[in-house]
Amino acid sequence: MTRLGIIGTGRLGATLLRAAAIHAPAIGLAAASRDPARVAALQREIPRLAAASPEDLARACDLVVLCVPNDACLPLAERIAGHLGPGAIVISVSNTVPLAAIAERVRVPVVKVIPTLAHVVGRGVALLVAGPGAGPAHVEAVRGVFAHFSLPLLIDERDARVASNVGGSALALFAALCDMFVAANAARAQTLERATLDAMMAETAAAVAALAQAGHGWNDIVGATATPGGMTHAALEILASGFPRIAEDMVEATFATQAALAKRAGGAP
Ligand SMILES: NC(=O)c1ccc[n+]([C@@H]2O[C@H](COP(=O)([O-])OP(=O)(O)OC[C@H]3O[C@@H](n4cnc5c(N)ncnc54)[C@H](OP(=O)(O)O)[C@@H]3O)[C@@H](O)[C@H]2O)c1
Repeated sequence: MTRLGIIGTGRLGATLLRAAAIHAPAIGLAAASRDPARVAALQREIPRLAAASPEDLARACDLVVLCVPNDACLPLAERIAGHLGPGAIVISVSNTVPLAAIAERVRVPVVKVIPTLAHVVGRGVALLVAGPGAGPAHVEAVRGVFAHFSLPLLIDERDARVASNVGGSALALFAALCDMFVAANAARAQTLERATLDAMMAETAAAVAALAQAGHGWNDIVGATATPGGMTHAALEILASGFPRIAEDMVEATFATQAALAKRAGGAP
């Protein structure tokens, strides 16, 4: 049985544990936290979850995921280095800590995975980058586990930011956009509750995804929905007048922030 170990039970750590608990019943799960109460709470949700120290988790697990803040990543790699089993693979979820710096410390194959909250519902792209020492078999082992609850996609490190924006950050950006659009409409609603509008928006977002995955291009969906001179068209003109520049600024902000965080972490990712 493959054993997946998660160190750090914050947003992403808990997400991965929940995703694996729901969608990967044959995979063993362990978590290490500085706060025993956090693991105890997760164990009430996930009865098969084992609590462990980082060292014990490193000894017992095939995949060891460092789900801690960037500045805690290298100290943690040093801490578990002497305890990792001979077949272990270390997974980094950071776009700013250099994979080589982790590999220097752990001396086992390192793979980067950028996962998302969508994995709890068995959806979303998990981006994979092969790090130092990781050959095709190691990448395949990681892909095999993440395939239970995501669409794993092997990418070149040079496109990690672009892929993380489209495959990961966009989840939050879409959610924020949906929230703002619903709020603007809720302010004009006479009888509809905000909760009803939220449910309608969720169905609309799911419909856009289903149409796109059925082969309808983004512009085809726009063209088939917005009659020239009509109300949707009027709204789209507002979007087109400002959003392309906003989108460029958003992408620039992600690149600039990643560069600044990587500098603080001690090198390019
Ligand atoms: N959130 C996402 O969707 C997402 C997606 C892709 C990548 N990431 C990356 O995943 C990493 C963690 O992000 P997150 O959003 O999960 O952060 P988070 O919610 O702050 O969780 C980080 C966890 O790490 C542990 N921790 C905190 N400080 C620590 C320290 N000094 N030493 C050791 N452990 C410490 C804590 O868990 P315990 O209390 O259990 O010890 C904390 O809850 C970051 O590199 C982030 O860029 C996040």
